[in-house]
Amino acid sequence: MNQKITVYVYTFITTITICFANDPRVIKPSSKPVRLFTEEELKRYDGSEDGQPIYMAIKGVVFDVTTGKEFYGKDAPYNALVGKDSTRAVAKMSLDPADLTHDTTGLNEQQLESLEQVFTNTYKAKYPIVGYTSRRILNEDGSPNKDFKPEDQQGFSVKDEF
Ligand code: HEM
Repeated sequence: MNQKITVYVYTFITTITICFANDPRVIKPSSKPVRLFTEEELKRYDGSEDGQPIYMAIKGVVFDVTTGKEFYGKDAPYNALVGKDSTRAVAKMSLDPADLTHDTTGLNEQQLESLEQVFTNTYKAKYPIVGYTSRRILNEDGSPNKDFKPEDQQGFSVKDEF
């Protein structure tokens, strides 16, 4: 009898665990906390040192692109994009140094659409998020940017947060 109860309890607990593990409403804690990166900090992850992680930001979201070393590593074709926020370059599919910036001012509809596609279908789908650029919430002098509203930024949406 006792053995039967143990089996029932075990089955119940296992079922509940499996159900909740697959429940999209349950937020699983990420294994590592996300960080805020200043421009200077982000620059350290530019792929110049072998064996170090490679980070790149788009729309202020910092992705770990180390697994894409063949694209982003030292001497790789898109190395110019990493260690910084390259939103504009990705939107325009340009490696022009003038486009290696977070600034989306004046981008046209098509470029903004392309930015969304690459942001969602390549970066969010392929690479883990390790943090956010401090520019999103801090002023140049490090003080909090109280006026910051994601929805005011061109090509930027609150849903990008998570
Ligand atoms: C002659 C021009 C170009 C060719 C032939 C080319 C070709 C490619 C190819 C074959 C891929 C890999 C697709 C895959 O395996 O998933 C790729 C990915 C990519 N390309 Fe280009 N590309 C060109 C120019 C550019 C430029 C100018 C940019 C500037 C931003 C750019 C940004 C990217 C990005 C961000 C990816 C995604 C890399 C990733 O998966 O992490 N490409 N490109």
